[in-house]
Amino acid sequence: MGPADGQPSHPRLDQILVPRPRRLSPRPGRFRLDRTTRLRVSPGAEPAADLLRTYLTPTTGLSPEHAEDGTFVLALDPALTGLGEEGYGLTVAEHGVLLRAARPTGLLRGVQTVRQLLPPHTLAAPRPDGPPLASAAAAVELPGVEITDLPAHPWRGMLLDVARHFQPVSYLHRFVDLLAFHKLNVLQLHLTDDQGWRMPVAAYPRLTEIGGRRAESMIGPAGSERFDGRPHGGSYTRAELAGLVAHAAARGVTVVPEISLPGHVRSALAAYPELGNFPDRRLDVWTRWGVCDNVLGVGDHVLDFFRTVLDEVMDLFPSPYIHIGGDEVPTREWESSRAAIARAAREGLAGPRELHGWFLGRMADHVAGAGRRPVAWAEDGTTLPLSCTVMSWRTPEHAWAAARRGHDVVQADHRRTYFDYARATGPGEPPAQPGHATDVRGVYGLDLLPPGGEPGQAGRVLGTQGQLWTEFVPTSRHIEYLTYPRLCALAERAWAATDDWREFRGRLDGHRARLTALDVPHDTLGDRPAPATV
Ligand code: ACM
Repeated sequence: MGPADGQPSHPRLDQILVPRPRRLSPRPGRFRLDRTTRLRVSPGAEPAADLLRTYLTPTTGLSPEHAEDGTFVLALDPALTGLGEEGYGLTVAEHGVLLRAARPTGLLRGVQTVRQLLPPHTLAAPRPDGPPLASAAAAVELPGVEITDLPAHPWRGMLLDVARHFQPVSYLHRFVDLLAFHKLNVLQLHLTDDQGWRMPVAAYPRLTEIGGRRAESMIGPAGSERFDGRPHGGSYTRAELAGLVAHAAARGVTVVPEISLPGHVRSALAAYPELGNFPDRRLDVWTRWGVCDNVLGVGDHVLDFFRTVLDEVMDLFPSPYIHIGGDEVPTREWESSRAAIARAAREGLAGPRELHGWFLGRMADHVAGAGRRPVAWAEDGTTLPLSCTVMSWRTPEHAWAAARRGHDVVQADHRRTYFDYARATGPGEPPAQPGHATDVRGVYGLDLLPPGGEPGQAGRVLGTQGQLWTEFVPTSRHIEYLTYPRLCALAERAWAATDDWREFRGRLDGHRARLTALDVPHDTLGDRPAPATV
């Protein structure tokens, strides 16, 4: 491991953090956290103290109370403006701990650093057959350290597709905790697609009643003619989603909801055929994988329907960003629909193909009119309304093209950020999206700086996001197998922007003890076996 940026050349295992802090220097001594420890919690720092206890108590039995003379200080100090929204400073010395930040979110990030500094066993959920907590937790120790830390990029996201395979909300809570542990701050919840509609909409209950269940699922990749014969379904209640939003907020994670428009809508068309281009046609919730030809019609009633849907989405999700889809919209139906051709003419468009941008423009206007920021997938970086933040998935060039046009951009290059691709080539891997494989090193190679380094463009790149599409991923174990440790590399690039594969690779080895304690699979690193010790 090479010396870099204040990092000692041989940091102790308990100082190997992922993502790497901006500045870290070891200090002598260790702080002992035991039943006599008290927290001194300044006004505004209570959520961070609560979060610290939420993590400590179940695994150590410790639940340090507030006291004015507490030696573990959590302090909000608005004068620390250089730390921004999410930065924090952490000093651990023998006789005290000081965690401070300008903003509450910074303290939440610092709590995750404290968790990483603790011995890994304090991350493990207690075993039902293990010793009682009171005897297990005499004390835990934090190593002496001085850290100043803040993120390189404000958007550090992970998408989970709960449309293709539904996951119970209890699992989403764990998923969020693992994101927060790596200082990610966005969970994009892909709530609707051809194969399922998971978000309840009071005005249109059939979206989940009909659209939430499919008769069976295709086995294997798009184009396969084999099916499993087993129904699959599920949807959330409003209370569950509100609970998830609160759980995420307590960890400094924003849940960005995604409603796919105007393609990837077959589940909505199954529930409400009048939304389609051919309203007399009856469609089932799609049982196949791939790109579906069926897209929304373009009548005023369709626009109004989805304005109502988006109103309910915005009511439930306080996120400043609302994702409206926009990807993979075949125009064949519009080109053969008299109503769509007439609409395109009426709107002054060159033809029905332009209904894609027009439709998204209407939805983006609605979201922006409600004071939120619309986000959409870029098909080429040049066709979305300028109000949209562009999530660029096909090639990095689309991201730079969108930035040049003046869009804010999230770099989601599929070759580096799609975790539904296999982690390695070869027969040992479970079924995955065909056509590509990406290992941890591939993710670490993610490029977040436009070529030529035009400062205006660079400033428009908000960050990056990993994607887990779940056509081939039915279980939570499989989700984690695909997500980790690749997400660690994404988090490293997004938070720390380090660019030293060997150094990161060594640190990731050290981090594995934490993943083990958290019961997160991380066995295959692809490039070489991990050494027994760091
Ligand atoms: C996408 O992968 N269709 C955004």
